[in-house]
Amino acid sequence: MSALKIVIFGVTGNQGASVARALLADGARFSVYGITRNPDSNSSKKMASAGVNLITGDLDNPATYESALMGAHGVFINANFWAHYKGNNSDEAAEAEQRQSTEAVKAAVRAKVRHVVYSTLESYLPDQPLPHFDAKAKVTEYMKKNDVPATQLYTSYFFSNLLMAQTSEKDGKTIISFPLPDDTVLPGFNVEQIGLWVRAAFRDPDTWIGKDMYASGDNITVAGIAKVLSEVSGKPFDTEHHTREEFLALKDKMDHELWLNYFAFLNGKMKRDPAESRKIVPEAQDFKAYVQSTPAIREHFGF
Ligand SMILES: NC(=O)c1ccc[n+]([C@@H]2O[C@H](COP(=O)([O-])OP(=O)(O)OC[C@H]3O[C@@H](n4cnc5c(N)ncnc54)[C@H](OP(=O)(O)O)[C@@H]3O)[C@@H](O)[C@H]2O)c1
Repeated sequence: MSALKIVIFGVTGNQGASVARALLADGARFSVYGITRNPDSNSSKKMASAGVNLITGDLDNPATYESALMGAHGVFINANFWAHYKGNNSDEAAEAEQRQSTEAVKAAVRAKVRHVVYSTLESYLPDQPLPHFDAKAKVTEYMKKNDVPATQLYTSYFFSNLLMAQTSEKDGKTIISFPLPDDTVLPGFNVEQIGLWVRAAFRDPDTWIGKDMYASGDNITVAGIAKVLSEVSGKPFDTEHHTREEFLALKDKMDHELWLNYFAFLNGKMKRDPAESRKIVPEAQDFKAYVQSTPAIREHFGF
């Protein structure tokens, strides 16, 4: 059987690079193509030397990538809300993300691609707007309404976001700065493993076309993060022990899109089932396994 051509949008990003690595690890089953705006960047060169066929294309201009989709068995689509977000333009950024992804879906349909895997998130409307989730949910809705042969891959919180968490020292402990109460659940996963779910979908289109899939590794609480870091490092970590009211008071003081995202976590809106997700990807790491296997996070937290 000849290799199945898979085209990856955002191949130099967290998600796309993981998808490329997972597909390449399958040997001759897939031939892997990746779209980037800049094939000369260091990240692009790294992907090319790993075996990705680079295509120069821009999600803002379907004509640049249209022909690259011809003959593809599968396409992985992921657009980046944050590339459009300037801190106060959530709706505009969400519209831009939705437009980019929808155009990529339409181009895949025109090219008669057999299987689209779309990196999505759910909407909590009408309860709570969350523009970068709502944009993805609208693209999913478009695909479902138009019978696009697709797998909707619902992601969750990237453990690697914690690489941005500040710390301080107090009473011999390392205090993690995070604005949510200790018992808030962060449904999360190691984004470097997302390719394992995407590969599972592309390996078995008969099972996965028309289905939802969830990428989940752990439902870790804020207190649980400190506990795991303490266990793995052998050094005491603690949280700032925020109350719900303290978080709510940050509404107009921190980045609003991020606040809305945390507010959804505070209200337990995101539901993920790591055990179900592990039936698809048995290697899916919980937070502890992620910390144990990721030098960057240990370095960030000083051990
Ligand atoms: N952080 C989280 O916890 C979390 C959780 C769930 C979902 N997400 C979602 O993840 C998405 C970001 O994904 P990521 O982390 O993989 O992104 P990333 O690492 O920031 O990479 C962005 C990728 O998008 C490509 N790109 C950006 N603009 C493009 C354009 N106009 N045309 C073509 N390619 C373009 C970039 O490619 P080049 O620069 O090479 O062109 C790059 O490969 C966001 O929409 C976010 O909402 C995040």
